Amino acid sequence: MQYLGDQCVKLGKMAMQIANHAKHFEDALALLSGRVTEPLALSRRQAMQGLLLGAAGITLSPASVAQIEIPPGQIRLIFNENPYGPSPKALAEVSRILPLTAYYPDDIEGELIQLFMARHRLDRRQLFLASGSNEGLQAAMIAFGKQGKVLSPSLTYSDHLLYAENLGVEVERVSLRDDMSIDLDAIARAVDDSVSLVYLCNPNNPTGMAIDGDELRSFCREVSTKVPIMIDEAYNELTDKPDYTSMMDLVREGANMLVTRTFSKIFGMAGLRVGYGMGHPDIVKVVRDHVMAWPNGVGLYAAYHSYLDEDFIAFSRQKILQGREMVNATFRRHGIEPLASQTNFVYANIGRNADTFAAAMAEKNVMIRGIYKGYDTYSRVSMGRIEELAIFDKVFGEVYASG
Ligand SMILES: Cc1ncc(COP(=O)(O)O)c(C=O)c1O
Repeated sequence: MQYLGDQCVKLGKMAMQIANHAKHFEDALALLSGRVTEPLALSRRQAMQGLLLGAAGITLSPASVAQIEIPPGQIRLIFNENPYGPSPKALAEVSRILPLTAYYPDDIEGELIQLFMARHRLDRRQLFLASGSNEGLQAAMIAFGKQGKVLSPSLTYSDHLLYAENLGVEVERVSLRDDMSIDLDAIARAVDDSVSLVYLCNPNNPTGMAIDGDELRSFCREVSTKVPIMIDEAYNELTDKPDYTSMMDLVREGANMLVTRTFSKIFGMAGLRVGYGMGHPDIVKVVRDHVMAWPNGVGLYAAYHSYLDEDFIAFSRQKILQGREMVNATFRRHGIEPLASQTNFVYANIGRNADTFAAAMAEKNVMIRGIYKGYDTYSRVSMGRIEELAIFDKVFGEVYASG
């Protein structure tokens, strides 16, 4: 009897805890989903804790959430993240499986791949998953870089290029045109027997500029007969015409190509590390053989539910485009014409040293990107929340006025 009584007391306590956690959980979801913006009664860290508390009934120390913790008051417009993510539906789903993560993931990999197969009309051999698209890019660099040079534009996303160079791969960089667009003619001319892969990023980072879909299509049709082409479409969902700008139609036709995509941008899941690639089965096989990490099940599960959350995708895109207009307007108000961005960041020639400028902005708690080698006076500003971009506008004005 004593035992039963104890169990009843325990159950009662658990019920109360669950009720409290459920409240934390609701508040956390509301804040993290971006639907609640002010007043901010709950910090992001508290919200994340609340989410985890609600999910698993455990308390986390601040150190355990350090990976996603942003110092209070800091506005982070530096890494092309999307603070409106992850999708609230995905967060709710993930919270259900967190307590089960003692076990290796089940077939979520296959389920997610099925979604991509259906959406893009591909077969299984044309797809791979990676721990962030960066892992796929790195794997491709190593796989193809062993056989010859990698060609890339001189100013582009380059984490994977640097990684490959560190491991002995030769990367040849082709200058941009004067208008900062990627010079497809010069790249086509540079292709010879010593080249094993062409890497292009469309839209490009850090310029934000997209290559016209048909211009790129005819380049790919011609050049892919000589060498495999990899197109990094990390920002495709944010372009004016995603289908037109994407090279997925050529992949479907069986071209000698690979397209990579990510859940880090429009889906706002950079911390969960999920990316994927779609391409010719022979290329996919080679890349898959070089991918090192076993994608994490929680990330894949979140990706699965984000991919299906169309309301969130539309909401996320709308916020990013609204923010982009705000940042463009900030630059223009100071007589600066930004490059035409089709991404979640804006690149502009501010006419002064971009590192010094970024340091002065950082002193006022607004983080923006400084110099990319060779472009000393260009700053890159990533999208934040709308209210953060209003603060960016004010701080930019103050720092710019102070010379
Ligand atoms: C063009 C481009 N490709 C790939 C990546 C890496 O993204 P992921 O988080 O999927 O590794 C980035 C990140 O900023 C990027 O800008």
